[in-house]
Amino acid sequence: MCTFLCLCLSVGIFAYLNYHVPRSRREILEILLKGLQRLEYRGYDSAVGIDGGNNKDWESNAKSIHLIKQRGKVKVLDEEINKQQDIDLDVEFDVHLGIAHTRWATHGVPSPVNSHPQRSDKHNEFIVIHNGIITNYKDLRKFLESKGYEFESETDTETIAKLVKYMYDNRENNDISFATLVEQVTQQLEGAFALVFKSIHFPGEAVGTRRGSPMLIGVKSDHKLSTDHIPVLYRSCESHFCVPHSAVIEHTNRVIFLEDDDIAAVTEGRLSIHRIKRTAGDHPARAIQTLQMELQQIMKGNFSSFMQKEIFEQPESVVNTMRGRVNFDDNTVTLGGLKDHIKEIQRCRRLILIACGTSYHAGVATRQVLEELTELPVMVELASDFLDRNTPVFRDDVCFFISQSGETADSLLALRYCKEQGALTVGITNTVGSSISRETDCGVHINAGPEIGVASTKAYSSQFVALIMFALLMCDDRISMQPRRREIIQGLRVLPDLIKEVLSLDEEIQKLAAELYQQKSVLIMGRGYHYATCLEGALKIKEITYMHSEGILAGELKHGPLALIDKLMPVIMIIMRDHTYIKCQNALQQVVARQGRPIVICDKDDYETIKNSSRTIKVPHCVDCLQGILSVIPLQLLSFHLAVLRGYDVRELTKLCITAPRNKKSLCWNNLKLCSQDPRVYS
Ligand code: UD1
Ligand code: F6R
Repeated sequence: MCTFLCLCLSVGIFAYLNYHVPRSRREILEILLKGLQRLEYRGYDSAVGIDGGNNKDWESNAKSIHLIKQRGKVKVLDEEINKQQDIDLDVEFDVHLGIAHTRWATHGVPSPVNSHPQRSDKHNEFIVIHNGIITNYKDLRKFLESKGYEFESETDTETIAKLVKYMYDNRENNDISFATLVEQVTQQLEGAFALVFKSIHFPGEAVGTRRGSPMLIGVKSDHKLSTDHIPVLYRSCESHFCVPHSAVIEHTNRVIFLEDDDIAAVTEGRLSIHRIKRTAGDHPARAIQTLQMELQQIMKGNFSSFMQKEIFEQPESVVNTMRGRVNFDDNTVTLGGLKDHIKEIQRCRRLILIACGTSYHAGVATRQVLEELTELPVMVELASDFLDRNTPVFRDDVCFFISQSGETADSLLALRYCKEQGALTVGITNTVGSSISRETDCGVHINAGPEIGVASTKAYSSQFVALIMFALLMCDDRISMQPRRREIIQGLRVLPDLIKEVLSLDEEIQKLAAELYQQKSVLIMGRGYHYATCLEGALKIKEITYMHSEGILAGELKHGPLALIDKLMPVIMIIMRDHTYIKCQNALQQVVARQGRPIVICDKDDYETIKNSSRTIKVPHCVDCLQGILSVIPLQLLSFHLAVLRGYDVRELTKLCITAPRNKKSLCWNNLKLCSQDPRVYS
């Protein structure tokens, strides 16, 4: 029998169950809110569901459920809780399940009624928290409405709450378990989900399940565990298994990662994991893993936020990406993860780089040098669009999946699609043990260390470097390429110092941010190697400052965007001394002719540009194909300072990041970015 059990569930949802460990309602709410705060990204609305009643015995309190909901961030919910008149915060619960959610609105505007937990009916018989999207919710809703169930919200999630009540109302016998009900519900659901259910009919019980969204359970107890593996119970199996320990991730480092379609139930303090049927390759048990939070690694140190820390970490993170792989003395590159496949890759028809967001930009940034050094056609694809188009892929294609987390849904789906077509799949991932890392045929771990800030920064520069290393490896036996290879490898050698030099511009960039932060929009223009910088800089600005920003290919200026330029429109231009220099100078002239006063990011020795521009950010010179790492850093810094000046708490913009020891079995997770708050992963 366990004495203390918590569930810690990712993706903006969090549940906490204490079993025979007395906790006051106040303590429970504090734990739930703290859990939510850890998961919060932008939290449009947040809510908790706890037992109602102010009686002495927990069981009678568990016969009613109290929901507290509020629009806005978790702290607004906290204020709302403190306003509640009818709940006694000092009541103590020997057994209790609380569930909580902070939402990134996918269905329905942010509002209390749309926030989760969603409920089955006005008596709150069943409540559920959900992350993900139910794609067949309209059909389910129509069906349930035809059966007389009345809906109150615009969410897809409400159908789940109603459906579980429908299953309960139509149960064949009274002994049906909570897990079986949930199993019946999930069989009807299409889409992606991580769910936790609570019900007045099953006091003190919790059921959680997932498909396509990660979920973990933390366990804690005063007693020693009798085993580290929880057997999976298939429907035909009657025995119950007890795990005498549990807790929340905040409180314990003992966790279980659920697999797709696992149903985890806690009944009378016993945790059991169920699956409907056994399929080939199923692991018969779920291992309880010990997470080793590498605290020093994830501590913010002197920085105000993880984002800032990670920007400043780049001199070291790029070294970590290259460590043991680039030999600067003999100009060679070794990638252990590709050595068995490089010959096959060299023979391929084309390279396709597939990713989302910042990781996609890393593909755009390195495309040219990949084309140059591999002499292969290179396509760079946004995973979602690639899938939408059912893009033709052939057996002699090599498909790269670039992903910090290794869990991004569209990238993962594209990977599975390419595998089905018979292409060789290569991962460029930061997360050892992530789905993309596991499912690709081979790949390169970028080893940038955990990225906790929600805006990807150091992962970008490391992905960039990893792709360059791959390009160098592809041509290592090409005599004609040797001078160019040497030039690039020596560029990589000095890169960390050059990054440091760019970072020393921080104060100057902070001043620039002070001039720009009240603007509505900023345009970022460049071409060639720096087009990706424009896209990435604009994405960073949009993402964390909520300011409009657009990355524009300077070659496209005359085809429309020039119309936006006047003396008021903030413009940043990137002009470097490479093969596009003259064309960029022309673009500068066009902008100036429209009375634009661009801020130019340029080479510190480019006196011509410095002389002709009213404002410049001067960065050191590097070999052309690496210069994009140096040009993006001022924009990373700028977006950070803009966000701070615009009053956004960049500290809150974190993704839950945990590290676990590697394990050779299928459940191995290291540097796992759970993307807890990250709708991107589940879009
Ligand atoms: C590996 C070790 C590293 C060790 C080094 C020394 C791991 C994770 N890395 O690094 O700790 O210092 O050897 O020899 O054990 N892979 C994919 N998809 C991906 C990423 C990687 O399939 O997205 C595969 C690779 O093909 C390879 C394995 O994972 O089989 C490890 O990749 P990587 O860490 O990049 O390999 P090494 O650099 O050799
Ligand atoms: C932007 C950002 C996102 C991610 C994108 C892909 O700062 O972080 O655009 O780059 O969601 O994520 P990964 O790389 O984890 O696949």
